[in-house]
Order: sequence, then C-alpha cells, then structure tokens
Amino acid sequence: MAFHIVELLRARSAEREALYERHVNPQMAHVLRAIGFNRAWVRGKGAVLFDAEGREYLDTLSGWGVFNLGRNHPTVSRAISDVISLERANLVQMDAPILAGLLAEALAARAPAGLTAVHFTNSGTEATEAALKFARCATRRPRVVFCHNGYHGLTYGALSAMGSDYFRQGFGPFLADFTAVPFGDLGALERELGRNDVAAFITEPIQGAGVVMPPPGFLREAKFLCARHGTMLVVDEIQTGLGRTGRFLALEHEGVTPDMVLLAKALSGGFVPVGAVLLRHETYARVFPSMERCVVNAGTFSENDLAMAAGLATLHALDDEKLVERTVVAGERLRAGLERLRRRWTSSRTSAARAFSLPSSSASRSRASRSSAGKPSTRCVRDCLRRWSPWRSSTSTASSPRLPAARWR
Ligand SMILES: Cc1ncc(COP(=O)(O)O)c(C=O)c1O
Repeated sequence: MAFHIVELLRARSAEREALYERHVNPQMAHVLRAIGFNRAWVRGKGAVLFDAEGREYLDTLSGWGVFNLGRNHPTVSRAISDVISLERANLVQMDAPILAGLLAEALAARAPAGLTAVHFTNSGTEATEAALKFARCATRRPRVVFCHNGYHGLTYGALSAMGSDYFRQGFGPFLADFTAVPFGDLGALERELGRNDVAAFITEPIQGAGVVMPPPGFLREAKFLCARHGTMLVVDEIQTGLGRTGRFLALEHEGVTPDMVLLAKALSGGFVPVGAVLLRHETYARVFPSMERCVVNAGTFSENDLAMAAGLATLHALDDEKLVERTVVAGERLRAGLERLRRRWTSSRTSAARAFSLPSSSASRSRASRSSAGKPSTRCVRDCLRRWSPWRSSTSTASSPRLPAARWR
C-alpha cells in the first residue's frame, strides 16, 4: 500500500492529543490543557495560526524565534521543494557540497569583518558546543566564562554555560572550568579574564530569557577585555540574529567584531534545522590543522542540502523584502503601542500580556478578538504585527514608510 501523508493526517488527526500524551510528552499535554492551548492547529501563514475551527491567532511565540520570515514563506518552501525534485546527490560526505559553499559565502558576506569561515551544525546548541570546543582548542586554555541568566542550549557544554538553574537541576555534574558572571558586569568579567586562563567568554547580545538588555557599550567593552586577555569572545546570535533587532546581527548596534558568532533558529526559514559558527580562518586552522583532522568536529546532517537551501532562501527573502529594515519600523510601532498600553494600565507586565494574548486562549476566541478590536492600543499592536510581518498583502497606509510590500500571501 502506498504511503500518503495527507491521507494519514486526515485519518488520524483526531488522535493528536492522545498520541502526544501517550508517546511524546505527557506533561506538555497537561500544560496545554491547563492553559487552554490544546488546540488543533491546521495551518500557519506568516504571523498567523489557524485552528481546526478556522479561527485565526496571532503567533507571538514564533516557534521560539524561528519565524523571522513568518510561517511557510514561499521562497523557502519553493527552494526546499526544488532541491527535493532535483534528486541531488545529498550527504555524499566525502564531498564539497555546492549549497554549503554558497550559504557559507552568503553568511561571510554579512558577518563582521574577518569571520569568513563557517562551520555548520544541526541546531543552536550544537553551534554552542562547536564554539566552546574551538575556543579551547585554539587557545589551549581550559576556562569558559558565561553570564547569569544566559541561555546557549541544553547539551552538556551549553548546559555548563547555562545561567538558569531551572535547566540545570537534576542533570549535574557539568563540565569543569565554567564560571558565571552577572550579565553586563564588566568588573566581574575583568576579574575572571585577568587570570589569563579563559578560552572563551560566551554571551548573548540581549538575553532571550526575559529580554534582558545589557548596559550600553557592554559588548564593545567585553571585546576590549577579551582581546587584552587573550580570550575569545563568542556572541550567541541564535535568538537575536537575522534581523530580529533591526540589524542583521544585534552586535552591529555596537560595531563589535567578535571571535565567533553563533546562528541557528531563523536561518532555517522555519523549515529545516540549521546552525552555524562564523569564525576566523586562523581559528579554523588551529582546530583543523591537518587533512587527518578535517572532520574532527562534524555532524552527519550538518551540511545537508535541504538545510543549506533553506538558509540561502531565508537570506534572499530577508534582503529582497527588506525585512531587517521593516523590523525597525515594526519595532517602533510596537513600542509605541505597548507604551500606550503601559500608560493605560498600572503595570506594564499586565498590559503587555493583554496585548499579546490577542486573540488568546479563552474559549470564546472570536468574541474576544472582536471586542478587543475596538481598543486602539491593542489594535495598534496587532495591526503592527500584521502590517509589518511578511505574510501581509501589499496594501500600505498613508503613514507607512515606503518599503517594498511583502511579495506573498
Ligand atoms: C540564545 C540561544 N542560544 C542557543 C539556543 C539553543 O538553540 P537550539 O534550541 O536550536 O539548540 C537557544 C534556543 O532557544 C537560544 O535562544
């Protein structure tokens, strides 16, 4: 009997919750029920999810930061379909795949000066692992300094640089020689680096957990201290990269050139997992010094054609639709809308939660969204996300800056 995924979905969709609870993650199934998120999502387009009853939901979780292009962007979708239809010689392994070369070239062109070597991985945490290994190998030093509240992934190296106890509890012991400093505390950082045994200082430019901003100039000063003490600065742009902060990389706000940059999440276009470490050729040469060591850090799937095509298509769409520039405009509108909400409500936390739960988890979804639609500030936040996310149609308002319309719906 032939295999038909469409038929399988049609026949078994009603078992969704039960199967997940029985075989995948029972606790998540409980959470979803408890918060009313146990919906059957049947479609996603741009920033919008549709449930089985045809209701629309604005998705501000964004797959934990993978949908910078929105869901099911046609450029990425087509690139992946085209690669499949070409029946290419994927994963030859003893090979120099053209798509890996092209994606590396495209990333190097967008990277801070000198970071022209690219090492591909399958995820963000694997990119972290690679960077920690490369730093230790290249500097011949043992220690890693990271930040309280930082997040770099959940494998053991990344978890050893984890700034939150929630993810560490129950999984120790961790790797030796990892030290935490408060995020943004240059004095504490200097004390650690001053021991001249630190291979890497790893940090996010903005911490994803809680969206914590460091003091202005932190990254620039950290780079200065790292350079003075022979430590590699590893900037984790897995969450902040690919336009999320109004620049291709968040570190561009401070004009910093680190020793390594980590990417993943949105580089996938929301389709095929991919991660990347951008580094200098000198660092690469220390880690991979001979033909014998050419695969001393590698992954079976890390340069696979589908991931590379997704990455290339994503970068193309970011440029073609000027999405990085649009992020600045959307961010400003969003900030203004949230500010109005903050003023209206006593606590900004309450107001943000109300804004972002549109239309949210209560049972009467369409009623809720209809009634909230009349409130100017919540409407502003929702309109902003819709207007400036790439899923929207090409209509623009008189007050909108003249940016090209997103090409798809
Ligand atoms: C800043 C940062 N680094 C690393 C990771 C880990 O990425 P992944 O979940 O792809 O392993 C994440 C994931 O949320 C992240 O936000």
